[in-house]
Amino acid sequence: MRKQLLAGNWKMNGSVSTIEAYFSDFRECLGLPISDVLKKVDICFAVPFTLLAKAKEVFKGTDVQVAAQNCHFEEKGAYTGEVSLGMLAELGINSSLVAHSERRQYYNETDQSTSHKVKCMLDKGFIPILCVGETQAEREQGLTNKVLESQLSAVFACIDKLDSVVIAYEPVWAIGTGLAATPELADEAHRFIREFAKKRFGGEAAAKLKILYGGSMKPENTDSLLAKEHIDGGLVGGASLKPSDFASMVKSAYQRA
Ligand code: 13P
Repeated sequence: MRKQLLAGNWKMNGSVSTIEAYFSDFRECLGLPISDVLKKVDICFAVPFTLLAKAKEVFKGTDVQVAAQNCHFEEKGAYTGEVSLGMLAELGINSSLVAHSERRQYYNETDQSTSHKVKCMLDKGFIPILCVGETQAEREQGLTNKVLESQLSAVFACIDKLDSVVIAYEPVWAIGTGLAATPELADEAHRFIREFAKKRFGGEAAAKLKILYGGSMKPENTDSLLAKEHIDGGLVGGASLKPSDFASMVKSAYQRA
């Protein structure tokens, strides 16, 4: 059985001065020793670059994971504003989101740069959390599976095995809108992703693949989403900023495990 992963994507939120208090509130709201929870559920926080070092310090002594929200595929050079995998590794970070829809939308990230990043991450032993998903217009035109196929096939063409790749299905129309996908609709997309991965990498790799759901996930809908066969956790934006909400979502996953 796949271990569930609850990952908070803080986007451009959080601060060095408040992360310690966040974590202590989060632990208190869990109401259980975090080491017990982590035996059954993986927990990760994808925080801004400026918080990575502090987050590592605050979560030290626990198995809570810390991830970046972006990375560059080159090792170094004239790429103003970018951060390389080596720089992240120096901070003890070995995971990053890749191609979040906000990066695709506002920073013109393409399938090509995404593929390149995922390949470099796997080569360096990183865990890529690869984000895919369709827009409202694409869904309305019945193009959801085509979009997923094209986003995934670009990456799959560049890698030999799935290794540590985690996929986050994040329908763009559900992000930050309060309109989460229904569990049925999300599971259908997840099933499609798993089947697609199976064709390329075989049944065993596909069965192990973690596929997270993201888009207006909150305490009220976590249980019903996680109840679905192909939903292995969540990539949570807004609700992860509130320790009590995120703790309640992690507890839902824990109780299901
Ligand atoms: P919300 O949970 O705020 O909708 O954001 C989802 C998301 O983009 C996570 O990466």
